[in-house]
Amino acid sequence: DSAQKKGFDHFMLKEIFEQPRAIADTLRHYVDTDTLTLRRDRMPFTRKQAVLLRQLTIVACGTAYHAGMMGKSLIQRLARIPVQAEIASEYRYSETLATENEVVIAVSQSGETADTVAAVRKAKKNGQRVISLCNVIGSTIARETDAVLYTLAGPEIAVASTKAYSTQMLLFELIALDLANLRGELSDEELREHLAELLRIPEKMEQILAQKDMVKEFTRRMKDCEDVFFIGRLMDYYSSLEAALKLKEISYLHSEAYAAGELKHGTIAMIDDTTLVVAIATQESVLEKTMSNVEEVRARGARLLLLSDHEIAVPAKAEVWAVPQTFDAFAPILTIVYLQLFAYYMALQRGCDIDKPRNLAKSVTVE
Ligand code: G6P
Repeated sequence: DSAQKKGFDHFMLKEIFEQPRAIADTLRHYVDTDTLTLRRDRMPFTRKQAVLLRQLTIVACGTAYHAGMMGKSLIQRLARIPVQAEIASEYRYSETLATENEVVIAVSQSGETADTVAAVRKAKKNGQRVISLCNVIGSTIARETDAVLYTLAGPEIAVASTKAYSTQMLLFELIALDLANLRGELSDEELREHLAELLRIPEKMEQILAQKDMVKEFTRRMKDCEDVFFIGRLMDYYSSLEAALKLKEISYLHSEAYAAGELKHGTIAMIDDTTLVVAIATQESVLEKTMSNVEEVRARGARLLLLSDHEIAVPAKAEVWAVPQTFDAFAPILTIVYLQLFAYYMALQRGCDIDKPRNLAKSVTVE
């Protein structure tokens, strides 16, 4: 057991630190790094399929669902195709309307989650083409879908998913870029620029990992807070959902994610000086809006942590963690590394069994 952890105290920490390697391996599998093009035979859509595509539906559970929400945002933004992301346990029982030229994408680290398997079977029964993003080779979902794209994260042991999530996001970035290029929304030159930037992500992740002591020290000061709210807009909101889930599952600390603009519709009533608000602000188009929400929570006495890759006026007494700069569409893959470290060290401070949290299973194979 300790040999497998390669000197790390927990599998979760080891897996957080494996992310630059997991991203680099996954990139090398799908991208020809000499020509900066996508390997056509490994991407799921032909040009014709991409042009005909009218709708995408993404189905998944847990952390994979959060990657699916990122996928929705990325594909709509870059390729301009309508996308819905659905929780698999809802989708399987909902009155789904299958439309013509719609493709379903199932996301699952294990490829065995019962609800996601059921969602795949429902879509297939409806006659839809189903693509999967899986980490486990030969798993049920990988076998039953029309095409599978593997995340090359390697085995994920810790219950809390980390490297599977970041590589799932990476696959959505590649799919979105590919669809955008095939549909004429992104030129070959722009595609190369985006791929070149993705190749710089592992090094930028390393810069964040190098800040682990700073993160640890911050959690030492915050371990007695009663609630943690994560706020952000657009993709930063989806990062908030994943950060709140990560924190809850391993530290048992009450945490919630809010779309920053939604705070004033209720949650802000709960904020006082026992609350930590973590604001994520990487999306240029809504930066000012998020910062005005930060000001609102600061005025109500919350403790504040801000994650951003932009030049922002920092409110008094706020802790700031600088995210290395990248394209806005790729920022979530970096911010999540800080948020995973934050959850890990919070759980450590609180003496939790990090790799095997109570009541949770790595893979939920029964309904
Ligand atoms: C469980 C795990 C989560 C995971 C979810 C979906 O709840 O604890 O970490 O995100 O299942 O698993 P999957 O294997 O389908 O990605």
